[in-house]
Amino acid sequence: MTTSFLTYLEAKRTVDDSALDRRVLDQFTSALSSRGEPVRVVELGVGVGAMLSRLIEWDVLPPRVSYRGVDIDPSCIVRARERVPERLESAGYTVGAPRSVCDETVADGVPKATTFVAQSSPSSDGGTATDIEITLEVADAFTLEDDADAVIAAAFLDIVDLESALAAIESLLAPDGLCYAPITYNGSTAFTPRDPLDETIETQYHHHMDEVRPAGGSRAGSAVLESVADRPWSLLAAGGGDWVVSPTAGGYPHREQAVVSHVLETMADALAAVSSNDLSAASRIPEERRRRWFERRRTQLEAGTLGYVAHNLDVVARVP
Ligand SMILES: C[S@@+](CC[C@H](N)C(=O)[O-])C[C@H]1O[C@@H](n2cnc3c(N)ncnc32)[C@H](O)[C@@H]1O
Repeated sequence: MTTSFLTYLEAKRTVDDSALDRRVLDQFTSALSSRGEPVRVVELGVGVGAMLSRLIEWDVLPPRVSYRGVDIDPSCIVRARERVPERLESAGYTVGAPRSVCDETVADGVPKATTFVAQSSPSSDGGTATDIEITLEVADAFTLEDDADAVIAAAFLDIVDLESALAAIESLLAPDGLCYAPITYNGSTAFTPRDPLDETIETQYHHHMDEVRPAGGSRAGSAVLESVADRPWSLLAAGGGDWVVSPTAGGYPHREQAVVSHVLETMADALAAVSSNDLSAASRIPEERRRRWFERRRTQLEAGTLGYVAHNLDVVARVP
């Protein structure tokens, strides 16, 4: 994966922090805390470990957890192995040395799976000590085996085949296990200031997600709700996990300009791969007009005047 993708994953952490629906998260963590400890969590598409670090920093996991984060991309796991311990140490955790779980390596000699322990002492105000064993592993979510209390799939179900992913999640979960799927894209990408070409650009972007990209979909969030209803799963909560990046007089918060930049370039690549023959007459635009739309948006981004809003859904459900 490119450096810019890793930069994007790191930069979007604060966008996700604001986006996550706290009611859905509360449902997930309170259901998780009623399970016997140590609680086993598997995260699919863990990226650079942002969700894992967040849940620990926000102190919403049970005190004793065994957390297995997997990603198919070795460069994500290499970066997660650097970033997660850094962040947990900054949050006051004592982080043990990592060790390889097995002798297996993947590309460039990267260990397939490493594990370390993060611990915190009881706080003076009566808080409990925590003991979290974290395994970061290069693996395909679709070939895993586990017996987990919870599977987390953040910003993941919109880029993979949904039915296969839900079947994989079901097979990874113990009876009554939980599936937490926040930040699943659901059909809207908007920019400010508005531009007359926005609607056509968005239609083409969604066409790419639905018809050109090998998997995923532009309405994956709604599709998750439908699929959960079609299965013998119980929906515990659902809510909006919308991304909002708004420049202020002081510029973009944190590193969020990089998020909008990555989204724009992803859209530019996507639209370049769409054949206008496959679009309705109303959705076609001359290449030159499309190129100028991207130029306008990049100029606004540089000037700190481009806002970005994407609609996502957060869902938590329980399997039988
Ligand atoms: C959009 S990113 C989200 C990363 C992270 N969950 C986050 O929210 O920051 C999707 C991640 O899924 C990973 N991924 C895609 N297909 C996968 C698969 N079959 N198995 C495991 N990981 C996969 C990608 O490498 C990428 O890191």
